[in-house]
This record gives sequence, C-alpha cells and structure tokens, in this order.
Amino acid sequence: MSVMPVMEPSTARTALRRHFLMCRPEHFAVTYAINPWMDPARGADAGKAVEQWEALRAAYLALGHEVSLIDPIEGLPDMVFAANGALVVGGRAYGARFTHAERQAEGPAYAAWLKENGFAEVLEPQHTNEGEGDFLTLDHVILAGTGFRTDLAAHQEAQEFLGRPVVTLRLVDPRFYHLDTALFPLGGGNVAYFPGAFSSGSRAVLERLFPEAILASEADAAVLGLNAVCDGRNVVINAEATELIGTLKDRGYEPLPVDLSELRKAGGGPKCCTLELRA
Ligand code: ARG
Repeated sequence: MSVMPVMEPSTARTALRRHFLMCRPEHFAVTYAINPWMDPARGADAGKAVEQWEALRAAYLALGHEVSLIDPIEGLPDMVFAANGALVVGGRAYGARFTHAERQAEGPAYAAWLKENGFAEVLEPQHTNEGEGDFLTLDHVILAGTGFRTDLAAHQEAQEFLGRPVVTLRLVDPRFYHLDTALFPLGGGNVAYFPGAFSSGSRAVLERLFPEAILASEADAAVLGLNAVCDGRNVVINAEATELIGTLKDRGYEPLPVDLSELRKAGGGPKCCTLELRA
C-alpha cells in the first residue's frame, strides 16, 4: 500500500483577525544570561532589533491584525518579549510573575497597561508564571508548560481564574525553556511541536491530543522555528526554519518568514514579541 501525503488546499485554512500587544525594543540588550541563548559577552544591537521588530509589526498589520503598543521601560531589556507579560483569554487577564529578578518589574507594567486599556479583570498571580510564554490557548484547552519557568501551581491558578481546562506539559531541554519555544497552535485545534523538548509522558499526551500535529525537526527548533504565530492560515515564522516552512506549505498554511536574528540572541522569536489580547 502506498501512502500519499494529504495535501489540503490552502483555501481550507481560514485566518481570524487578531489583536496583539507589542513592545518596541528600544532598550533591548543582552546584559545578563537567564537562558542558554543569552551571552552578555556577545551582547546585542538595539538598533538592529528595532528594525527587525518593525518588520514583524508591519507583517501583522499587512495581514490585517490589530497591534497595540506598550511603552518600553529603560532597564528592562527583555520587555520586548510581550508574550511573557500576561495571559489574556475571554477578556480576563491572568498576570505574570517572573522567575528571575531581572524581569520582575515587567509583570506590574503589563498589568497596569491592561487595566488602563479596558481589561477590568486583571488577576495579580500568587504563583510564578511567565504568561503566554508558557500558556498557549486553543479553542477548547490551554496548554501549559512547566519545568523551567512557570510553576505547576500557576497552571491550576490560571484554570480557576479563566475557567478553561489547562493541560500541563513538562519541558526538559533548557534551550526550550518556555512552551512557546517548542510548540505553537495552528488553529482548528491542531499544533506544531518539537517532540524532543518534552518529557516522555508529555509527548504521549501530545500524541493523544493531536494525532494530526506537525512534528518539527531539531534543526527547525534550534532556530526557534516553533516560536511562530499562526492566525489559522498565515504563519509568521523565523526564516531559518526552512524544513518546517516547507511542511507548513504542504499542509495548506501560508508561511511568512521573518528575520528576528538579533532578538534570538536573547532567546526570543516572533511569538515571544507578541501577546494576544483575546476579547
Ligand atoms: N530573555 C528572555 C527570557 O529568558 C526571553 C524571553 C522569550 N519569551 C518567550 N515567550 N519565549 O526570559
């Protein structure tokens, strides 16, 4: 029996308009190391980061998405990674509480922005969690990472506050320290992920939940190719993830390659720079 790949026409994929919050990396730098991607001796160029980030923002606007901006704060070089600032679902915002002292002040800054911009329900969390870095929202379930940053107890806190089922996934490779470095939702209840980033139990959970998932190679994961943003059809993704970009095309998605190489020096990609505001 010959097995033919299923080629779904791209018209089968539907984009939904999103509302994103972003933070221009005016004060971006690599001055400390809290993940294996960061090397303070090598540093990073804020000017180059701003250029790359502007192209990312332009890509979202060209796709018809709405982009709001939070003012960057001097002395918070990682604040560009807006995904970590909160988890916003159904108009309710579960606040972030950062693992490392260097980023702690970002939590209240994002919470204040949300309160000032129409989100009345903002929960100040009891438990350590890094927002959408470790919480990825699908229609019927929220996938939650733990192992490096976000505490297991935060998964329960988020579930209780948001009223959505939260499924815990355990991360085991320090290069993939946030769930959004190893997995992204494709829309339609499917995901793409790099199996090697997960414990064997969590891999079995992913196989059971997502039999149709796109599996990415280690090479694609190692350029942060899984740190992508999909609106149901278009996938904004690091250009270096060439194999994954090919697979996405075969499966009927429209990859939109971007160059965020300067931000990768801090361990971030397109998704890290993007917090989704779900009304
Ligand atoms: N340097 C930042 C950190 O280690 C990068 C955060 C990337 N954000 C993300 N959502 N994965 O905290």
